[in-house]
Amino acid sequence: MSADRDAASESVRDRHVVLIGLMGAGKTTVGQRLASRLARPFVDTDDLVEATAGRTVAQIFADDGEPAFRALERAAVADACASPTPLVIAVGGGAVVDPESRRVIEAAGIVVWLRASAAELAARVGRGEGRPLLAGATAPAEMLERLARLREPSYEAVADVTVDTDALDPDTITDRVLEEVAACAA
Ligand code: S3P
Repeated sequence: MSADRDAASESVRDRHVVLIGLMGAGKTTVGQRLASRLARPFVDTDDLVEATAGRTVAQIFADDGEPAFRALERAAVADACASPTPLVIAVGGGAVVDPESRRVIEAAGIVVWLRASAAELAARVGRGEGRPLLAGATAPAEMLERLARLREPSYEAVADVTVDTDALDPDTITDRVLEEVAACAA
């Protein structure tokens, strides 16, 4: 590793790496690999929400509706980003739509948008089990297209780096993210 790359790794070490993107983008799979490569903890905001509520995301949507979930998600994003320990944080696909969460995410560290086409996302999520926005949709691919149109401007606005993930396996995506994050922190 060159001296430049050493310096980049050092500065990454002090900052959160925050993964954003639509459902099926690979935030959890890639995030876990990334965390292990960077030797730091991995946190998924959906897991934080579920731990706080004592219910699954699907149950929260069904019992209390999406706004209640979004309020819990806003708190989970704030909690994760406030950690003094540098983390890899995967945030739920809809978190960036909330202006407060967007502000917190942007300020938290290096933000990585895992981008994929709606067709690729649809193939990855299948019938959308455990994801209430998709499980209720007759055509998950169309729903993902619609969400992409609505959310991509927000992903683009907060991302420091964007990694295109179509047709790539999780290890290759993880390698690319590490390269981009090191370059961004240099
Ligand atoms: C959602 C994405 C899900 C989860 C919830 C809502 C969204 O997280 O937060 O089902 O609005 O895109 P993942 O992006 O981790 O699947």
